[in-house]
Amino acid sequence: MTVTIRDIASDAGVSVATVSRALSGNGRVGEGTRERIAEAVERLGYQPNDLARSLHGGATGTIAVLVPDITNPFFPELVAGIQAVANERENLLLLCQTGEDPATAVRELRHLRRKRVDGVVLVGGLVPDDALAGAVEGLPLVTVDRDTGLSGRWSVRADHRAGGRIATEHLVELGHERIAHVAGPEHLSVAQERLGGYRESLEASGLEADEALVVHGDFGEAGGHEALRTLLRRRREFSAVFCCNDLAAVGALHALDEAGFRVPDDVSLVGFDDIHLAGYLRPALTTVRQPIHDLGRRAATLLLEHAVPGEAERHEVLEVSLVRRDSARSVRGRR
Ligand code: RIB
Repeated sequence: MTVTIRDIASDAGVSVATVSRALSGNGRVGEGTRERIAEAVERLGYQPNDLARSLHGGATGTIAVLVPDITNPFFPELVAGIQAVANERENLLLLCQTGEDPATAVRELRHLRRKRVDGVVLVGGLVPDDALAGAVEGLPLVTVDRDTGLSGRWSVRADHRAGGRIATEHLVELGHERIAHVAGPEHLSVAQERLGGYRESLEASGLEADEALVVHGDFGEAGGHEALRTLLRRRREFSAVFCCNDLAAVGALHALDEAGFRVPDDVSLVGFDDIHLAGYLRPALTTVRQPIHDLGRRAATLLLEHAVPGEAERHEVLEVSLVRRDSARSVRGRR
């Protein structure tokens, strides 16, 4: 039999309203009364009904995160940061995968609203702002890796454009003059930002930006593999490749190996993200580190501390850094 708040009230000899105040911590309850209620809760094994509490406007203690692809290590590492904050604040975390499909994302957001979650972290995503506004109406929302046009919202992302610049600058400093770029999906702002940083760095170094050396992948290893095969088929000389993320670099490494090119002896390779596997590749991957865990922590903290309708919107940009490993080397003095 389910123990209800009425059973507690009867057992403790108080009103239901007094028990509700004691359990929610809202309103005054005498110390003796509070002790009798706590003893009744313990004795009867009462489990507060989060859904009932939420129906009375209280928090359910549940938040959700929507990510594009749980098979890409970046996202589980990000979710771990969100989970850490949820645990610290005794919140349950629900995880949903959108597959970067706007219809799936909207369906999941509407479902989460009906479940009365306290808020959502939406990672990436192609949901148009008008569809997003309709799906999350009144629901606190923090986005990662995208700035929505929605007013009064909160977002967290890394400085993707700076990351594109420092990856390319590193290769220029190593003496590379023909640097290819395996870009991310054209319709994603993070991919455009990294591509922009690559082009800015080439221009600042006085190097020609050869568009034949830019190929778009899909943030996955298969896309990186196919993009490198496309670059090789174009027969345009290059001595280095900057990849849009580490999984694309894994695919590129494989394609270069298949074609008989050694990394870094023949071609230098730089990735983006610094997922935990990057250091275990052979050669260990030089890459741009996103503070992945911190991105998750900041998103969850913004959601649980600030994301209430009416509070001033906030957009946080976290710094990235270069992690030098073995996949990129100098070509100075080799011509
Ligand atoms: O690797 C997945 C990519 O998608 C990451 O670079 C992250 O920034 C997200 O945009």
